[in-house]
Amino acid sequence: MPLPASVKPYSARQSLNRLLNSCFPVTPSPPKSAAQQAAIPLLDLSRQYSALRTDILAALERVCASQHFILGPEVEALEREVAGYCGAADAVGCASGTDALWLALLALGVQPGDTVITTAFSFFASASAIARIGARPVLLDVDPHSLNLDPAAVNSFLRPGKPRNLRALLPVHLYGQCADMDALARLAEEYELPILEDAAQAIGAAWRGQRAGTLGSVAAFSFYPTKNLSAYGDAGLVTTIDPALAAHMRRLRNHGSPRRYLHDEIGWNSRLDAMQAAILRVKLPHIESWNEQRRARAATYDRLFTQSGLTSATADAAVRILTTSPHAHHVYHQYVIRAQRRDALREFLAARSIGSEIYYPLPLHLQPAFAYLGYREGDLPESERAAKEVLALPMFPELTEAEQQWVVESVAEFYS
Ligand SMILES: Cc1ncc(COP(=O)(O)O)c(C=O)c1O
Repeated sequence: MPLPASVKPYSARQSLNRLLNSCFPVTPSPPKSAAQQAAIPLLDLSRQYSALRTDILAALERVCASQHFILGPEVEALEREVAGYCGAADAVGCASGTDALWLALLALGVQPGDTVITTAFSFFASASAIARIGARPVLLDVDPHSLNLDPAAVNSFLRPGKPRNLRALLPVHLYGQCADMDALARLAEEYELPILEDAAQAIGAAWRGQRAGTLGSVAAFSFYPTKNLSAYGDAGLVTTIDPALAAHMRRLRNHGSPRRYLHDEIGWNSRLDAMQAAILRVKLPHIESWNEQRRARAATYDRLFTQSGLTSATADAAVRILTTSPHAHHVYHQYVIRAQRRDALREFLAARSIGSEIYYPLPLHLQPAFAYLGYREGDLPESERAAKEVLALPMFPELTEAEQQWVVESVAEFYS
């Protein structure tokens, strides 16, 4: 007889388990905490939304009532507020972080045939924005402790002489920690190269107390929904210390147009819409406290991992924690460990519904799209090693200590 839809039939294994349990009762395992029972996602935006729902909906209503959907007062206000927050002279909203990089490169005068130095260990857009202009990314290796662009690698590249067509230095503030801006700024000055910060993961981060977005000539931010400051769709922004660059980028994001139906040069449609700007304006006043909560969660992970005994200082430790520079104010867009048997650990965590992610499983110099650059496996060993070892663990301001304990206990159990 068919079972009612609400009743799930037992599988053969479940029936066998029930039979065995009734014949040979097992000592009950200690009760699971709430965090152990529930899934722990890598990022849970719904917790943020429930706190901000009323304000977000009011902001959307404000835009709908204005019927002004593209650029306009919301975008201008956001630009002023983000520039003020970062301490930049100006900011230009655009369609995505990828476009922010592209606008910044164009404003710096990068042209087809030029070259730009960046890191091999980042999201694809850090290098593809260079390639999109027809310029050539020079991909260099990372410092194994921070996984940011290694100034020593930049120095070795430049020491024999600056290539004639080299136009800019594009460090990425990976995972929310600024690259070594002392060393990179020294090199930029010596070789007369402007710095474009890829600050997509680093709003609120700082180097020696100075915020990302003001550490070079120009900086690109992403407000992709997973970022520390996130929109409800794609959105990006460029900050700059140079008002002339800002004016140029404002034209470029709107078809190179200084005024309606006049086009001085070929730009593109990379306009930011008012809905995204209005949502970002609701969230921006919270970014400091959210970043502080991320920093506190990171300190908790560091402590729990140290207590677990997994993170000895030796290179063969099961888990290694990335290093934070004493000069960096890290905002932990991601909390990333280097783990032995990383892929098996990830599967183990997934079986417990603990989210994790690999940023990034393939370094940029080995991406098929960049095969034409001619790099080979082995060329950038630190980036290649990192790609095999890194694992991002759940990290967001609302993550609870009980959840973090369960994550670290689970990692410890995997290695036990
Ligand atoms: C380092 C880095 N650069 C650039 C980007 C591109 O930003 P978007 O996804 O908004 O285009 C991202 C975002 O994913 C990123 O993490």
